[in-house]
Amino acid sequence: MTPLIIDTDPGIDDAFAIALTAASPEVDLLAVTTVFGNVGLENTTANALRLLELCGRPDVPVAAGADRPLVHPTPHRASEVHGGDGLSGAADTLPKASKDVDGRHAVALMADLLRTATEPVTIAPIGPMTNVALLLALHPELKPKIGRIVAMGGSAKGGNTTAAAEFNIWSDPEAAHRVLAEEDVPTVLVPLDLTHRCAVDATWLERLAAGGTVARGLHALTPSYRATYRRVLGIDGMVLHDAIALAEAISPGILRTTACPVEVDTSHGPGRGATIVDQRRGRNSHRRLVDVALDADVTELGEFVLSRVLR
Ligand code: RIB
Ligand code: CA
Repeated sequence: MTPLIIDTDPGIDDAFAIALTAASPEVDLLAVTTVFGNVGLENTTANALRLLELCGRPDVPVAAGADRPLVHPTPHRASEVHGGDGLSGAADTLPKASKDVDGRHAVALMADLLRTATEPVTIAPIGPMTNVALLLALHPELKPKIGRIVAMGGSAKGGNTTAAAEFNIWSDPEAAHRVLAEEDVPTVLVPLDLTHRCAVDATWLERLAAGGTVARGLHALTPSYRATYRRVLGIDGMVLHDAIALAEAISPGILRTTACPVEVDTSHGPGRGATIVDQRRGRNSHRRLVDVALDADVTELGEFVLSRVLR
């Protein structure tokens, strides 16, 4: 079993990622750490606690992390996509948490877990990378304890929260620059270029609605998120960005990656938060490479997620 920490801003697709992980025997979920992002830290933390209760994993510690970006505040969250409470206004339909949030800061909990880990730990940031950037800055001595980082974020061609930038990177470009360009921990980046090709459809959602307690609990969170994708992508379905990243964390190689340098635009112009994925061949020997997930068997991926969250 691979020890795993999820750093998250639940978030509808984060909810599916957490449920997928809770149902996956390949990984040992050590902790869920929360960060600002889709909504504020108070909501993302409360949502993480309730989602673990729904999944029957109240034993997993939840610690709250950064409530704002490293350097420059961002003008908005993503409540227009995920609802004011982060779960389409349906957070209260989830079971109440039976556990309190851990008293440690997210970075302290991650550091404690890395110190005691006996195997390399996978860290899966599926929100702004602020907590992970802080971890790497504060505890460089713990980097050898991290097996790899599997992050949802970025895009090679155009953004979602702006024309240039994907939301997680846009929310804290300086943190993303630190993790993707400055550090040297093996990293997989799962960008919009792939996640947008992996939308689940109406049939998939009907099968989800016919599932067990967890499946029905997740389905109750989807109506407004589904309406958003009808509006922005013209599809009757939705994109589970974060679940696709966790599929890779759980089943290494389920996504097909290409090693590329990735730079982050930290300027304050129209490109702020853009990820520049350099796919030119033979130009990158001296630069840090990130494994960018640009391909997958979309049908296999959809079944991988559904088969595990149907319980
Ligand atoms: O751009 C998609 C990402 O932003 C996902 O992680 C989603 O949860 C939002 O945080
Ligand atoms: Ca997220």
